[in-house]
Amino acid sequence: MSFGIIAAVSREGIIGLDGGIPWHYSSDLKRFKRVTMGSTLIMGRLTWESLPRKPLPGRRNIVISSQDIEGVECFRSIEAALAAVSGDVWFIGGARIFAEAMRYADVIDLAFVPDSIRASGAVFFPDIDASVWEAGARESDPEDPRLVRCIYRKKKGISDE
Ligand SMILES: NC(=O)c1ccc[n+]([C@@H]2O[C@H](COP(=O)([O-])OP(=O)(O)OC[C@H]3O[C@@H](n4cnc5c(N)ncnc54)[C@H](OP(=O)(O)O)[C@@H]3O)[C@@H](O)[C@H]2O)c1
Repeated sequence: MSFGIIAAVSREGIIGLDGGIPWHYSSDLKRFKRVTMGSTLIMGRLTWESLPRKPLPGRRNIVISSQDIEGVECFRSIEAALAAVSGDVWFIGGARIFAEAMRYADVIDLAFVPDSIRASGAVFFPDIDASVWEAGARESDPEDPRLVRCIYRKKKGISDE
């Protein structure tokens, strides 16, 4: 059982704008699908609402929300969701989910897109604490060199409590 965070960020560290993602890179979407297939996805309500309102196929979709939402499994908190799952888990956003998931995750799979987003109301990826996370090598996406990927791993001796 492993817990990971997966996201794509702009040059400014932005993950979302106006309820969506203000870029489109098909190689990143393909990789997201490949990496997360077969696992459990945990997302916030607004991220769920940014999808086509049906669960992403081949994965257990869980939404964290104070309300029940028709058509998808919901929990009131990440903790409650984690108590009900087995196997690999990917936290897929948004910002509050990412921030809270930092304590549970062992890995952060981050794609850096070349876009520069300057807009008020944008949603940011939370700070990555360098005392907790070790950054791996930055590598270009083999299918689309405009994208750079970095895997962060939790340093040894850092527990989730
Ligand atoms: N670039 C990327 O990789 C990426 C990935 C995912 C999403 N996004 C973008 O990010 C934006 C959405 O992110 P967001 O941060 O605004 O919203 P979000 O985290 O997706 O959803 C926020 C809502 O989720 C629930 N929630 C979240 N964390 C919770 C917690 N710890 N405990 C209880 N409830 C919790 C609450 O729902 P209730 O109000 O119902 O209680 C909260 O209002 C969109 O623009 C989306 O497209 C980007």
